[in-house]
Amino acid sequence: MSGKLRLGVLASGGGTNLQAIIDRIQDGSLNAEIVLVLSNKPTAGALQRGRRAGIPVCCIEQQDYPDRPACDRAMVAVLREARVELVILAGFMRLLSAQFLDAFPHRILNIHPALLPAFPGLNAQQQALQHGARLSGCTVHFVDSGVDTGPIVLQAAVPVLENDSVETLSQRILRQEHRIYPEAIRLFAEGRLRILDRRVTIVRPAENPEEVLINPPVA
Ligand code: GAR
Repeated sequence: MSGKLRLGVLASGGGTNLQAIIDRIQDGSLNAEIVLVLSNKPTAGALQRGRRAGIPVCCIEQQDYPDRPACDRAMVAVLREARVELVILAGFMRLLSAQFLDAFPHRILNIHPALLPAFPGLNAQQQALQHGARLSGCTVHFVDSGVDTGPIVLQAAVPVLENDSVETLSQRILRQEHRIYPEAIRLFAEGRLRILDRRVTIVRPAENPEEVLINPPVA
C-alpha cells in the first residue's frame, strides 16, 4: 500500500486509544493518517483529543435520525467523504448495522477489553471479575455482524489481581490496549494481514525481511 493509510476513528468515550494512535503516528512508528474522528456523543473526550491534534472531528447522534440504518448511512457518508480506508472502533459503544459493515468489508477493526471469545459485549472487565478469571486482557479484531465475534488480529493478557476493582483492572488492560491497537493498525497498513475463514495470518514484511515476527505464520 503506497502512501499513508487513511484512518477514520469512531469513539464514544475519553479517547485514550485514539490518543495512543495519534502518539504512534506522531512519533513515526505508525505510517498512517487519521483523517476523521467521529463520535456519537457530543461530550466525548475523544472529540477534544482529535481537535487538539488538529484532526477534523464530527458528531453524529442517533437521536437526530429516524432509525439506526439512517444514522449509519450518515456515518458512512462522512467517512467516504473523508476517503477513509480503515475504520477504527476505539471505544465506540454502539452496534453497527449491516449496511455500515458492507460499506467497509474487512476494513473495520475494534478493540475489546477482554480475551475474546471470553466476556464479549458490555462491561467486559466487570464480567471477568465476577467470573473469577485469573487472566484477562484485550483483543483487536476485525468486525463482523456478531457482537465481538470477528477474526482476531492481536491479543494481550494481564493478570486479574485479588484486590482488583473494575477501575484498576480496566487501567491495567488499557495499558495493553494502547500498545497492541497501534501495532495491529501498523500490520494492516503494511498489508501484512491475511484472513482465511476466521483465522488471521500475519505475513512477513515485504521490505524488511530481517524484522522479527510476532505470531509467525505456520507454514
Ligand atoms: C476501552 O477499554 C475499549 O476497549 C472499550 O472502551 C474503552 C474505551 O476507552 N471498548 C469496549 O468496551 C467496546 N465494547 P478509551 O475511550 O479511553 O479509548
